[in-house]
Amino acid sequence: MNAFSFVNPTRILFGEGMVDKLGEQVQAQGARTVLLVYGGGSIKKSGLYDRVLTQLEQAGARAVELPGVEPNPRVTTVRKGIELARAEGVDLILAVGGGSVLDAAKAVAVGVPYEGDVWDFMMRKAEIKSALPLGTVLTLSATGSEMNGNSVITNWEENLKKSFGSIHAYPKFSILDPTLTYSVPRDQTVNGIVDTMSHVFEQYFSPTQDTPLQERFCEGVLQTVIENGEKALAKPDDYTSRANLMLSSTFALNGGLISVGMQNDWATHMIEHEVSAIYDIAHAAGLAILFPNWMKYVYSERIDRFVQYAVRVWNVDPSGKSDEEVALAGIQATRDYFTRIGAPARLADLGIGEKDIDRMAKETVRFGPVGGFKQLNEEDVKAILRLSL
Ligand code: NZQ
Ligand code: ZN
Repeated sequence: MNAFSFVNPTRILFGEGMVDKLGEQVQAQGARTVLLVYGGGSIKKSGLYDRVLTQLEQAGARAVELPGVEPNPRVTTVRKGIELARAEGVDLILAVGGGSVLDAAKAVAVGVPYEGDVWDFMMRKAEIKSALPLGTVLTLSATGSEMNGNSVITNWEENLKKSFGSIHAYPKFSILDPTLTYSVPRDQTVNGIVDTMSHVFEQYFSPTQDTPLQERFCEGVLQTVIENGEKALAKPDDYTSRANLMLSSTFALNGGLISVGMQNDWATHMIEHEVSAIYDIAHAAGLAILFPNWMKYVYSERIDRFVQYAVRVWNVDPSGKSDEEVALAGIQATRDYFTRIGAPARLADLGIGEKDIDRMAKETVRFGPVGGFKQLNEEDVKAILRLSL
């Protein structure tokens, strides 16, 4: 196990009815003018928008709105939010929605006190030194953005999708009410399952030795998602399975709690971001296609971890099989599960061919080779993309 330092400053309010605590949290931040950030209208349809406005009114806070945050949120929308927040003297950002809304709100929060262009943070041209406080009400279990300091933003003009991570961008509080996810459509529920599992893969497939507790944390999240994912798909308003998915996605990516002291990988995420930067596909659709192929490409680096994954997570019976057969059976079980729940398996399923592979690979390694489990250079990335065609 490696030495580590860990902190997570986000207060979580979890459970049915927790939206009624929003006013208290807003007051605790001393907020007078709140920038309410939301997406394309799902919160209006569900009635959550009205509940949030009532809470803000009760807290004595004025609301200014940034609606229309896109899935794969755009830097142009973030810039609009920054200008609005400055003009209106906003002192708290409140994101109500899925990961895209939360990520856009984080970028606004770090962009307001910065005198340059917010895109500098994604291009690693500037360091984040401060942010406006941010609170969130989550409506989709997937990214973990509600309890981490990461934000992923698309620059559509340049076909780039880049991220930043900062201690300043952690939400001060996040309200997690599983009933708010009952209305998440089937395909987005599938995306959330795949994204959560992928976040665990990025941490679990690690070169670091002697981390039994962290490995079991990871396996626990994976098994919980696998079981509850299918239940939530069968019955979208089942509280228990929605709650278990929500807790799992939050713990899968909250500053690395489940993998403290472990080298992480993250290559597959970086490759996927470059696919969605050009094709505007859902993040998790890209991950579902790429991850089993990344696994096939790298498993021999540390076959014992892939054997453990197959046996403990997918109950592959190792008797009479070679390590290689067991490892490959675990990878196949991953692909089969994704297919069973309706996730895509090939880039061609999304209309993506050979054309942009060189460009995506080049951009993936813009800041250097990627991957902590196996370091991948441009040629490796091309090979994984080709396996995924
Ligand atoms: O825009 P609205 O109308 O709200 O509709 C959204 C959107 O169309 C809808 N939705 C959300 N909650 C709903 C709902 N529909 C009905 N009922 C509800 N309760 O779902 C659609 C997708 O939402 P989005 O926020 O885009 O999904 P997700 O949470 O999967 O976020 C994806 C984004 O997060 C980034 C991805 O790259 C992608 O841009 N990521 C962020 C990470 C982070 N901050 O740590 C890590 C991830 O790996 C990921 O890269
Ligand atoms: Zn992800």
